[in-house]
Amino acid sequence: MSEKKIDKQMRKIEDKRDKNRTFKKDSSFLKAEENVFDVPTLKLLYTLANKGYITEMGGSISTGKEANVFYAAGNEGEVAVKIYRLTSGTFKAMDPYILKDPRFTNIRHSRKDIVFAWTQKEAQNLLRVRKAGIRAPRPIVNERNVLVMEFMGKDKIPYPLLKDTPLDDAEAQNIYDQVIEDIRRLYVRAHLVHSDLSEYNILVDTEKMEAVIIDVGQAVTLDHPNAREFMSRDLENILRFFKKYGVKADKKEVLQHVKQRNETDEIYEKELNESGENKPDESENEQIETDSEELELSEN
Ligand SMILES: Nc1ncnc2c1ncn2[C@@H]1O[C@H](COP(=O)(O)OP(=O)(O)OP(=O)(O)O)[C@@H](O)[C@H]1O
Ligand SMILES: [Mg+2]
Repeated sequence: MSEKKIDKQMRKIEDKRDKNRTFKKDSSFLKAEENVFDVPTLKLLYTLANKGYITEMGGSISTGKEANVFYAAGNEGEVAVKIYRLTSGTFKAMDPYILKDPRFTNIRHSRKDIVFAWTQKEAQNLLRVRKAGIRAPRPIVNERNVLVMEFMGKDKIPYPLLKDTPLDDAEAQNIYDQVIEDIRRLYVRAHLVHSDLSEYNILVDTEKMEAVIIDVGQAVTLDHPNAREFMSRDLENILRFFKKYGVKADKKEVLQHVKQRNETDEIYEKELNESGENKPDESENEQIETDSEELELSEN
């Protein structure tokens, strides 16, 4: 289906939602949605609604290559619901990140298994990122291909992407410093490399002038064979973006800087090491396998 068609369909669904304003388990809702999401995904959304994680579904925030993000209300306040599509053909793009990740060696490699593992990995990574002292959405619940997380925005409007945020040179330098510090904390405290960091995956809380890191599904551990290459690419993206604001930085020096740890880092690192989060976890792989075997999802 073309992007345009999807957009049109999403609008239809949003209009319908606006009329209903509540998440009802009726067949007309199912019908309207089924062309965008498969039935198991809809059922999962109903389950999450019944549990109160989602009390009112709002509009679409983003239609990405692999996932759609929706605004929603939940018992815990405003949330963002990221729904990975089980049927899109682009999941090959995930393979280099997840297949070599030592935390995910045991999963069977059908698309839905990769999607489920990916969603789980994003939720885990969000927690790990936050525990490293980086501002990122708090994961609230994740199941199969759906991740419910803290909504990063104000008055139902998500914070703008870094690429869309008007900044003067001083503000840009400030955000740059924060992003480099985030990369450093991610590396030395949480032992992760974001691996898709750019002005497209950083939001700016324009009130506090704070960087918010998102889209951490592909973040890899330092023992991943491509971790160095991903780190180098992340830094290049960031340096390229901020160059136009006059931010001067030498990539080699920045690379050295982001590997420097101080005493505060050691406290965070120790906490993450001791809670087991900085280590590959075998049991989580088994969990994924059991979960996905219980499900009979159609691939189309
Ligand atoms: N927690 C959140 N709060 C507010 N807005 C969000 C949140 N998470 C994501 N968004 C919005 O949705 C957009 C897409 O999210 P994200 O970058 O995570 O997915 P994506 O780029 O579509 O992922 P992929 O390309 O892997 O499918 C973001 O650019 C941002 O505008
Ligand atoms: Mg993104």
